[in-house]
Amino acid sequence: THPPRVFSGVQPTGNLHLGNYLGAIRKFVGLQHEMESLFCIVDLHAVTVWQDPKALKAQTREIAAAYLAAGIDPDVATVFHQSAVPEHAELAWLFQCVARMGWLNRMTQFKDKAGKDKERASVGLFTYPTLMAADILAYKATHVPVGEDQKQHLELARDVAGKFNLDFGAEGFFPLPEPLIRGAGARVMSLRDGTKKMSKSDPSDLSRITLTDDADAIAKKIKKAKSDPDPLPSAEDGLEGRAEARNLVGIYAALSGMSEAEVLTRFGGQGFAALKPALADLAVEKLAPISSEMRRLMDDPGHIDAVLKAGAEKASSIAGPILRETKEIVGF
Ligand code: ADP
Ligand code: NA
Repeated sequence: THPPRVFSGVQPTGNLHLGNYLGAIRKFVGLQHEMESLFCIVDLHAVTVWQDPKALKAQTREIAAAYLAAGIDPDVATVFHQSAVPEHAELAWLFQCVARMGWLNRMTQFKDKAGKDKERASVGLFTYPTLMAADILAYKATHVPVGEDQKQHLELARDVAGKFNLDFGAEGFFPLPEPLIRGAGARVMSLRDGTKKMSKSDPSDLSRITLTDDADAIAKKIKKAKSDPDPLPSAEDGLEGRAEARNLVGIYAALSGMSEAEVLTRFGGQGFAALKPALADLAVEKLAPISSEMRRLMDDPGHIDAVLKAGAEKASSIAGPILRETKEIVGF
């Protein structure tokens, strides 16, 4: 009953990396032509951890530049930043009253991000998934392309939608949004530790390839990437128990469009000394056009701001009526 609509977002917290590109942004580019799409820069999420006010706007423009440079067309998809559309925060409040403490207590990302001293984490970091539910449902979005790390938050968004519909006798009012997590690149791991995901907040710069790295930096990081002494396995033997090899082969597959088995057929039996330079060349080939276009766009902040402003107006024109109806259902 709900028309298909895509929503997704990236936080403007700096260090935009290869995982964000392969797990999220690259998928957005294809989806915009399949369904009506909204791609947000989620600055309200970013401030759940401290952001330098002097840097935040530039970080927001950086994500917008990455969207456009990667191939999102603002005349096709709606590109905007979250803080410009107040409906997100207002709906999030209502959802904080729908979600249960027990649901949020089970969120593993909060446990990871809050670290050891949970008493000192912001309340917003804890309630983050309710804002994410609001981001999606403010548009009654039906499909959400994300990396694997967001799976649990998506399930919570579905639970919020279902409980709202049930509690208020509003069957079918909110759709239960479907995650789109398929395919290569949904889980890119740190180059320094094959058991941790590549992330913006890792203290080691060597752990991630960023979209603004130049060719030398990309080559250096891949050369220094953690590996093991064994040759790469054949396609039949597979990558079980070889976290670092699996990650580099997975990145090669995602960037080249080959399957993991095809990559292993090419490199199996050879050492990392064969895979790493080939991977560096491939990464430079795929990322250099995006980073140079990002730099060009970031030289013209006025243009980016105009795109974001037009996008926010379009987004508000969808979210406004949905929020009004939601408030009526609640009894306001
Ligand atoms: P981060 O988790 O790096 O701080 P965000 O929370 O802004 O970044 O996530 C933006 C998008 O990038 C989300 O869809 C998320 O699932 C995806 N993503 C983040 N890290 C990875 C990764 N290592 N591999 C694949 N996708 C990822
Ligand atoms: Na994330």
